[in-house]
Amino acid sequence: MGRRILIFDTTLRDGEQSPGFSMNTKEKLEMAKQLVRLKVDIIEAGFPIASEDDFEAVKTVSQTLKGPIIAGLCRTRFQDIDRAWEALKYAERPRIHTFIATSDIHIQRKLKMSREEVLEAAVAAVQRAKRYCEDVEFSAEDAHRTDQDYLCKVMEEVIKAGATTINIPDTVGYAIPWEFGARIKDLMNRVPNIDKVVVSVHCHNDLGLAVANSLAAVEAGAGQVECTINGIGERAGNASLEEIVMALRTRRDYLNCETGLKTEELYKTSRLLTSITGIAVQPNKAIVGANAFAHEAGIHQDGMLKEKLTYEIMTPESVGVPQSRLVLGKHSGRHAFKKRLSDLGFELSEEDLNKAFVRFKAIADKKKEVFDDDLIAIVEDEVFTVPEVWSLDHLQFTSGTNIIPTATVRLKRQDEILQGSGWGDGPVDAAYKAIDLITEMPGRLLEYNLRAVTAGKDALGEVIVSVEFDGQRVVGRGTSTDVIEASVRAYLNAVNKAVLRRKGRTPAEEQPPAQKGV
Ligand code: KIV
Ligand code: ZN
Repeated sequence: MGRRILIFDTTLRDGEQSPGFSMNTKEKLEMAKQLVRLKVDIIEAGFPIASEDDFEAVKTVSQTLKGPIIAGLCRTRFQDIDRAWEALKYAERPRIHTFIATSDIHIQRKLKMSREEVLEAAVAAVQRAKRYCEDVEFSAEDAHRTDQDYLCKVMEEVIKAGATTINIPDTVGYAIPWEFGARIKDLMNRVPNIDKVVVSVHCHNDLGLAVANSLAAVEAGAGQVECTINGIGERAGNASLEEIVMALRTRRDYLNCETGLKTEELYKTSRLLTSITGIAVQPNKAIVGANAFAHEAGIHQDGMLKEKLTYEIMTPESVGVPQSRLVLGKHSGRHAFKKRLSDLGFELSEEDLNKAFVRFKAIADKKKEVFDDDLIAIVEDEVFTVPEVWSLDHLQFTSGTNIIPTATVRLKRQDEILQGSGWGDGPVDAAYKAIDLITEMPGRLLEYNLRAVTAGKDALGEVIVSVEFDGQRVVGRGTSTDVIEASVRAYLNAVNKAVLRRKGRTPAEEQPPAQKGV
């Protein structure tokens, strides 16, 4: 057995904190449920004092999920710690994660405190957190730019105060792998009782070294790695969870470490994050990018045909990348559909299965071959989405080289049918104008992304849009064999999310959100 490394996922906190990646409570819960299926050890669900939304998300995740430890972030201020506990107290296995910066530049310029005051605040915070909860993590923000003697002292004292995990962040992504590894090794050798706690690392990717630095720390003795799905996070992001986990698995021969993750869930988790945030990973992204397992060069393909190990260090199956196999067609029945979804890891309720099956039949009628990727897109479209306030009843458009593009859209809201027409720069623009007219909720299109889910001229098109309604950014997703219809479905998905957001708006949400981060 290799040494067991704990995986601390901070997608919902450090990841969500970066511009464009914000998620509402429902989306965070959906994501957290998938992180449970992935079997991460710790889910950092948010920063409860940062905003009402963050508080609600941490509370909801704590109340709902069983299995992993649920962590909430707080500064060393007692008010922060108390608020974090308010949200975390429902969790089966709560963790208070408190932090303060320890580098001189942060202490002097940002905190305007002395080293002694920071040390006192750190110890007092851990003691305060311990009144609530046995599991307390302490992070020394900007640890990598902290004087090592002082860092050792801070860690010694917080361990004495009861911290059970001590975290060494490279907050600004400044470290070089062997330098960071040496720092961890030195801490392991010098800090009294460090063997009684878990040593964690948290690396940012400003120099593209977050994963390498994390692995160097693991080699030096770290027992927990903090990371995010798709590597999202502040600025250039955090260390990518899927890369760390697969590096540990693939190079177990060298690192002799293992995680408890179900790696076959990695691809699905990455896809879910993309469909929630609307931000795709680059095609050449390791592990989860569209080209991660594509062998293009003739010489590589020839090698692969003779012996897969010539060019493949891990299999696509091991990370759950669906094989573009023909699985179902228009004659396939409900039973085969259910079985295939179950093979792909989706256990749906009868109601969700029915919804997905109706959509599958409609798509299979237009598209001769339905692949695994298509099935995943259908489930994401029909099941992992908000309830439809407005649904598409009819769409008609005209477009061409020398005519003005126009669109007529008919939408359904409960028993009501409403119709509108618009013209625009193209059929998508025209259809969006028609929808705005019907819903009386004009949206501003910020981003539009189209991709083919599978290969072939009859491929399912997936559109992800980012739309602003009343100053709030909402992401919508839609699929169809017709790209205009997919575009309309994506826009309507965003409209429905915006409507639900308005309905569920609490008085606190009406106020400007509190500043996130530190
Ligand atoms: O990057 C950082 O230092 C952090 C800490 C709050 C853990 O995110
Ligand atoms: Zn961070």
